[in-house]
Amino acid sequence: MRDNVVRDLERARARTLHLTDLDDPTLLAQHDPLMSPLVWDLAHIGQQEELWLLRGGDPAAPGMLPPEVDLLYDAFKHKRADRPALPLLPPVEARAYDHEVRGRVLDLLERTSDDDLFTAGMVVQHEQQHDETMLATLQLRQGPPVLIGRRKLPEGRPVAGDRVFVPGGEFILGVDATSEPFSLDNERPAHRVDVPPFWIGRVPVTSRQWSEFIVDGGYRRRDLWSARGWAHRAEAGLERPMFWAADGTRRRFGVQEEVPPDEPVQHVCYFEAEAFAAWAGARLPTEAEWEKACAWDPVARARRAWPWGSAPPTADRANLGGDGLRPAPAGAYPGGASAYGAEQMIGDVWEWTSSDFTPWPGFTPMIYRRYSEPFFGGDYKVLRGGSWAVDPSTIRPSFRNWDHPIRRQIFTGVRLAWDAEGA
Ligand SMILES: [Fe+2]
Repeated sequence: MRDNVVRDLERARARTLHLTDLDDPTLLAQHDPLMSPLVWDLAHIGQQEELWLLRGGDPAAPGMLPPEVDLLYDAFKHKRADRPALPLLPPVEARAYDHEVRGRVLDLLERTSDDDLFTAGMVVQHEQQHDETMLATLQLRQGPPVLIGRRKLPEGRPVAGDRVFVPGGEFILGVDATSEPFSLDNERPAHRVDVPPFWIGRVPVTSRQWSEFIVDGGYRRRDLWSARGWAHRAEAGLERPMFWAADGTRRRFGVQEEVPPDEPVQHVCYFEAEAFAAWAGARLPTEAEWEKACAWDPVARARRAWPWGSAPPTADRANLGGDGLRPAPAGAYPGGASAYGAEQMIGDVWEWTSSDFTPWPGFTPMIYRRYSEPFFGGDYKVLRGGSWAVDPSTIRPSFRNWDHPIRRQIFTGVRLAWDAEGA
């Protein structure tokens, strides 16, 4: 287990260094008010690794940075929009600091028992989450491309039927440390939940379907939108997914290109997802529905580690890791289907659910208490399944992401659901 954690730490760092292998002006600039300068993420990764693994999670414990510098990297102290004005470590110092922390962490892990590796696994996931955030920053950035796709994705295929049926009945929602030792606090504990029968989309909604929604006046029809959604649509001037232009092209990592029709739509907010679902005569799935369709094996009456079974993700089962720089077309992963036949539930695009972010019954916070707890009950909707930009170490069928319903700079898409009687 320790070897796996060390390997995951090293993979995360290689990715961080690749994504920040940019000139200083690019690292220091704020590319969008929603995002930190990349150089903040770079040093924050090391600062959190030091805090959780070398300082026992106690910000008052002596650290490697002067206290006033250490505080610059506390995400709760400074809003993203204010971060460019802070006296941040320059890129060369941020890299040296991260490297120094990592050296000490690897020494420490040599003396750590398997039972105490959770925090190191949490640190892996933290770094990988920031790597995805940095990809979102680089997608927002204006100017010529600095990243190119490094992974060829499989072709799509037409799928038989747009939806799969999930019979009603109990399943086990959430996980425990025994089955998923690196699951985070909000995924636990495992508990039985009864879910009425429903249908769920076999694959995520594609850009072709989204174009039909636009042409049919989806952004102008008040009846398709919730009251909040309609108000936001008007105020933000939403007419199409973020990064799409009126001429059928889109900007992706600095390249203007035709929108690929068979690719899952991404960069839509929750309110747009809701309106699309109404237009399609469907709705968004709840979290429990989503997780059952993804992970439950109705024959074995048990959870699977992955939709397809227990084998870890491979390039023919899911689009993860970020190197593709895009979702794979619908139907690209027949080998990744769940027991019910739903495909592309892991990877490609985060999928909005209709559920608010709340704790599972019996929730206990982990050492990083402020990871989940301050956000429960806030104005957040849960997203499931991970995107193409997520590392395999940082996604599971139980993994819960959350964001404000207006956000669409993240790699979000839509999977539809239907009540059984309405289908
Ligand atoms: Fe963070």
